[in-house]
Amino acid sequence: MKPAVHALGDPLATAPFYAPAGNECALFELAWRRGLPLLLKGPTGCGKTRFVAHMAARLGLPLHTVACHDDLTAADLTGRYLLRGGDTVWTDGPLTRAVREGGICYLDEVVEARKDVAVVLHPLTDDRRILPLERTGEELAAPKSFMLVVSYNPGYQSLLKALKPSTRQRFVAIEFDFLPAAQEVAVVATESGLPAERVRPLVTLAGRLRALKGHDLEEGVSTRLIVYCASLMMAGLPAAEAVLAAMIEPLTDEPDVKAALIEVAKAVVG
Ligand SMILES: Nc1ncnc2c1ncn2[C@@H]1O[C@H](COP(=O)(O)OP(=O)(O)OP(=O)(O)O)[C@@H](O)[C@H]1O
Ligand SMILES: [Mg+2]
Repeated sequence: MKPAVHALGDPLATAPFYAPAGNECALFELAWRRGLPLLLKGPTGCGKTRFVAHMAARLGLPLHTVACHDDLTAADLTGRYLLRGGDTVWTDGPLTRAVREGGICYLDEVVEARKDVAVVLHPLTDDRRILPLERTGEELAAPKSFMLVVSYNPGYQSLLKALKPSTRQRFVAIEFDFLPAAQEVAVVATESGLPAERVRPLVTLAGRLRALKGHDLEEGVSTRLIVYCASLMMAGLPAAEAVLAAMIEPLTDEPDVKAALIEVAKAVVG
């Protein structure tokens, strides 16, 4: 008989790269151990999804991700009866699958979902930890390994869409923001392969553009866009063209605003 092969290796070494800003990794792990749901809030492209992927791999848990949108209903999450060859067959939705299998269920942009979603999340996110399936009459108890993680961007989502206190007060919450400049340089260099000294001006530019948020821009430039820019430069595109394509065009459609951003970029990157 062949000896058992331990092919998985060190989960920390094989997990998707994530540079922590503070104690969020320890907090996530403790919340998971204690069966507490977690809410991540922060601007677009600041590392929320990467953090969840990193933690799932680190804890050796399956990750079930659901991108929420404004048509998403409770039935989309829990499941429904579908017609199959003349029969109606119950088909689990992603939340039900996650509760049955255990692991992390990540609802991205949860405030986008329809109001009735809260109804299925409430019993799952208090000490009951159950998912009632009205249609089948089942009541699933979440296994110990199950954890619900939700994220949203408080910046551009209107007050109308904000989570109700009775929903948000069922979660432990972590606020995310862009990393301090030195750390952001390191992340972008790691992600893109571009040397840190060439990344540094891009991060400086991002800082300047983020300062314009609220005046001319709805959202500041994300770490994701700096990674795009650095990747284009790494592939050989001149800096000015990469900055325009990755760090300016995605931010605005207003010709005046764009011209102003180009001036800022010229002053910083050249
Ligand atoms: N702390 C970090 N460690 C490693 N990579 C990071 C970090 N923060 C941002 N990144 C990089 O930024 C990219 C975007 O991050 P991510 O997709 O996690 O953002 P997000 O917060 O989920 O955004 P959205 O709200 O738009 O979904 C990642 O693919 C990664 O390259
Ligand atoms: Mg995300």
